[in-house]
Amino acid sequence: MAADTETFADLRLTARLRSATAIMLAIVPVFLALDLRYQRASFPGLLFFYGLHVLIAGGALLATFTHGGRRRPDHVALVLIAGMATNINAYFHRTPANPALAADVLTLLMMSSAFFFSWSLSRHLLICAVTCTGFAVAGLTAAQVQPAFGYAFGILVLGGVVASIGSHVLGRYRQGLARRQAELAELSMRLMSLHEEERHRLSRDLQEDIGQSLAAVSAYLQAIEYDLPPALGELRARTADARRLAAKTVAQLRQLAQLLRPSVLDDYGLMPSLHSCLRDFQERHGVAASLSTEGVPDRLPSPIEVAVYRVVQEALTNVARHARARHVRVALATDRGELSLRVDDDGVGLPPEGRHPGTGLIGIRERVQALGGSVTIASRAGTSLVVRLPLRRDRAA
Ligand SMILES: Nc1ncnc2c1ncn2[C@@H]1O[C@H](COP(=O)(O)OP(=O)(O)OP(=O)(O)O)[C@@H](O)[C@H]1O
Ligand SMILES: [Mg+2]
Repeated sequence: MAADTETFADLRLTARLRSATAIMLAIVPVFLALDLRYQRASFPGLLFFYGLHVLIAGGALLATFTHGGRRRPDHVALVLIAGMATNINAYFHRTPANPALAADVLTLLMMSSAFFFSWSLSRHLLICAVTCTGFAVAGLTAAQVQPAFGYAFGILVLGGVVASIGSHVLGRYRQGLARRQAELAELSMRLMSLHEEERHRLSRDLQEDIGQSLAAVSAYLQAIEYDLPPALGELRARTADARRLAAKTVAQLRQLAQLLRPSVLDDYGLMPSLHSCLRDFQERHGVAASLSTEGVPDRLPSPIEVAVYRVVQEALTNVARHARARHVRVALATDRGELSLRVDDDGVGLPPEGRHPGTGLIGIRERVQALGGSVTIASRAGTSLVVRLPLRRDRAA
């Protein structure tokens, strides 16, 4: 997936386009059955229109799985609606006996396009105008103009205007929602980077200031311990205890600082940090952990290194807390400008009654989406978390 050239808005439109084409394909058997029942005489000739309908809807559906289709779902949607309207009008021209039914189907099409695609008022009005004109031409040039044609035409025009206004209103709501989402994503990105900076600073202060002072205290205590005369054996033992305590605290501080922000991540990059993170995890939880990489360069852009490290940390915490797993496998690979990360465990899998709404997975999703990537979590034998991140970002997602 070339996530660097697709926005989330594109992806959401692609999903809506798929739903629209699926519905259009699903109605075929219903109308086929109706025509078979009520238009038996002309039925074989109508099959051509059904074929075209399936071709247009199926083609649009297939296009959403291609690179070009995913990049331009709006164009595909436009071709879909225009193609459908033309085909229905051609069908009506061939069987003009029931203009009200044809007008209803066209109104339904325009309502669906309003609901699924929420185009601008001018674009929607243009599509409705072309559809209504097509309907008028099809009806007036048909073998026999039906008395109900004028009435059906009026209904169609009215339906088209209502659909256009609905499309406009819905479009405004969707735009507002997308703007709010973008603002929230921006805010959460800022909060995460502030959080990360804060951890970085804390980790440095802990190691460099407090840690070094404590190490100095420990060294002083050691000097005192050696200088004390043997007659003061009890004082010497207490000094040794104090020194050991100081040394233990230094070690704990170091551990805490590593947890907050491993210096190895800044100094040596992602792989050594992940290796040490997995080693610690294995020792602490007794779950066998392995790391495999394929084509991953030594250094990646810092936001990506930090994001991957934090995702792995949260995924491992989840494995320890929820999975009851024996093995966990972390795999990193790069392919065509995209980094993929998988964390697979062989534990109990996600709870069948639905996930408990924690903040860990939400945090992962926020972090990854802020970098233009995607997250999927699936449960089959154990749990698999898959993250995809674009390594190059040409435009903001
Ligand atoms: N590897 C896993 N194996 C089994 N269940 C999992 C796994 N990862 C997540 N889950 C399920 O998904 C839920 C949500 O996970 P999430 O990390 O969002 O929240 P949490 O771990 O419960 O709490 P926290 O906010 O502290 O992270 C968990 O409560 C758990 O039921
Ligand atoms: Mg969690």
